[in-house]
Amino acid sequence: MVNLSSGHGKRPTVNAQPSPIDAASTDAWTKLEAHAADLKPDLRRWFDEDPGRAERFTLKAADLTVDLSKNLITDETLALLDELATSVNVTGRFEAMLRGDKINVTENRSVLHTALRRPRGLEPLVVNEQDIDADVHEVLDRVAAFADDVRDGNWTGVTGKRVATVVNIGIGGSDLGPVMVYEALKPYVHPEIEVRFVSNIDPADVYEKTADLDPETTLFIVASKTFTTLETLTNARLARTWLWEQFSARGIIDDTDAARTGAVAKHFVAVSTALDKVAEFGIDPTNAFGFWDWVGGRYSVDSAIGTSVAIAIGPDRFAEFLGGFHAMDEHARTAPVAQNVPFLMGLLNVWYTNFLGAHTHAVLPYAQYLHRFPAYLQQLTMESNGKSVRWDGTPVTSDTGEIFWGEPGTNGQHAFYQLIHQGTRLIPADFIAVANPARPLKDGGIDVHGLFLANFFAQTKALAFGKTEDEVRAEGTPEEIVPARVFPGNRPSTSILAPELSPAVVGQLIALYEHITFVQGIVWGIDSFDQWGVELGKKLALEIAPAVSGDGLALADQDPSTRSLITTYLEMRQD
Ligand code: F6P
Repeated sequence: MVNLSSGHGKRPTVNAQPSPIDAASTDAWTKLEAHAADLKPDLRRWFDEDPGRAERFTLKAADLTVDLSKNLITDETLALLDELATSVNVTGRFEAMLRGDKINVTENRSVLHTALRRPRGLEPLVVNEQDIDADVHEVLDRVAAFADDVRDGNWTGVTGKRVATVVNIGIGGSDLGPVMVYEALKPYVHPEIEVRFVSNIDPADVYEKTADLDPETTLFIVASKTFTTLETLTNARLARTWLWEQFSARGIIDDTDAARTGAVAKHFVAVSTALDKVAEFGIDPTNAFGFWDWVGGRYSVDSAIGTSVAIAIGPDRFAEFLGGFHAMDEHARTAPVAQNVPFLMGLLNVWYTNFLGAHTHAVLPYAQYLHRFPAYLQQLTMESNGKSVRWDGTPVTSDTGEIFWGEPGTNGQHAFYQLIHQGTRLIPADFIAVANPARPLKDGGIDVHGLFLANFFAQTKALAFGKTEDEVRAEGTPEEIVPARVFPGNRPSTSILAPELSPAVVGQLIALYEHITFVQGIVWGIDSFDQWGVELGKKLALEIAPAVSGDGLALADQDPSTRSLITTYLEMRQD
C-alpha cells in the first residue's frame, strides 16, 4: 500500500467508541495472506471437481438470489473471511449501529438509517430517550399526505393548477438517491407527473431543466440535509428567480414581497434537518419535511429526502420500497455470517482489495431502469470508505475504498468489457438482473428480455471460464492471432437476480450495498459515515471565488498554477 497519509500518532477517542480492531494484525488476516499466496484460481477445475459449488455458494437474501460461485473463493476462503469478520466484530458493530451507538465517531453521531424503514408495531427504538420510530413515522405520514395531495391535485399552484412537474433541487445524497430510484421505478410513476432533478451548480443544469416548464404547474423541492450547500442554495435561488420572473411576465403576481412570498409558498417545499435555515430561505416551515443528524446524506433516500419519489410512485409504493430495505436489514441482522449476503459481499470486497490486489469494482446492472445505480453507488461506497485514517485518528493498516464504477449492460459490453475480459487488471464485477421485465417487448416472436438476459448469463460465463488456446485453435483461428483471441477466465463476478424491479427490490438492493459498505468499513476500522474529504475543496472554492470575479488581491494570493489558470480563464471569458 502506498502511504498517502501525513502520519498520525495515537489520538484520544472522540466518544466512548472502542478503538478499531486492527484487522491486519489478526490471525485471520495472516492466514488469508498465506491462503491468497497459495491460491491458484481455476474456476473451470473448481466447478468440474465440485458439482455442488454453484448450489452451495448461491444464497437468498429477501427477494434476491445471489450467486457467489463465480468468485475466486474456496470453502477455505469463506471460512477465513468468516474468521476475519469474527475477529473484528462485524456483528457487534452492526448491532451497535442498529441500536443507535454513536459509531459515526468523528461527527459524534448515531447512524440510524435502518430506523427509517422500521415498520410500525415493533418494540420501540428509543435512543437517548427519543422515540425514534415515532419521529420517523410522524414525518413519513406527513410526506405521504403531501404526496397524495400533489398526486390527487389537492395541492395547487398560485393559479389553482395542479402540479405536473416536480423539480428536486439537491446534490450528493440529496440527489443521487432520489434520481436513481425515480429512474429505477419509472414504470410506477404517476402518468401525469414528471420529476426532474437539478444538482450541478453549472447554470446549464437549472436552465435546461426549467426552460420548457410551465411555472404554474411546477413544484420545487429543495432537498438539503444541511441547507447550506452552495450548489443547492444557488440553484434554489435561481429557480425562485425564474418562478418570480415567469409569474410577473405573465401578470400572475404583483411586484410585491407579499405576492412573491405567496408564490414561494405554493411552489416551493423543502426537505432538511435545518428547518430554521429553510425558513430563512423563505419557505414556510409548514411546507418542510425534517429528518435527523443520524441520517447520513448518502443513506437518506428512504427519509424525507425521498419525497420526490413518494410523489412520483405514491405513498403505498413508497411503503413497499421501505419494506424492501427492512427485509434486507432483517436478513443482515439475523443471518449467520456464512449465509449473510451483505456481510459476505463486503468480506469478498476486502478479499479482492487487500489480498488479491484489485483496485476497482464494477457494478453492471442488466436493467436499463437501474442506469443511475452505479453513480449512486459511487457516492455510497467511495464517500463512505475512501479514508486513510481510522475512526480513532490512527492511520489505516491496509488499503481501503476501491473505486466503484459501471454502466448498464449491454452498453458496457460494447465499451469497456474488453478490459475486464482480457486486460491485465483484476476487476471483480457485480451483475444485477431481473427475471420479469417491466416492458416485455417481442422482436418478431422473440422475447427481447430473454435475449438481454442471455447476454447477462453469457458475460459471467465468459469471464469465469474464458476460452483456452486449444479452443481458439479448434475454431480454425489463424495461429498468429490465437493469443489475441484467448480469454484467460478466472475473472470474478457475483450474479444478483431478482424476480422484478419492484419498489421492494430496489429498496433491497440499496440496503444490500449500504451494508456491504459498512462491513468493509468495519474491517478497515474506518468511520464509513463521515466525509471530511469533501470539505477542503468546498472551502477553497469560496476563497477563490473573489479572484475569479476579478479581485486582484485575492488573485495574487493564489499559488502560481492556480493564479495562471484563473488569469487564462479571465482572458478567455468574453462577457
Ligand atoms: O459532498 C458532501 C455532502 O455533504 C454529501 O455527503 C451530501 O450528500 C451532499 O454534500 C449534500 O449535502 P446536503 O444534503 O447537506 O445539501
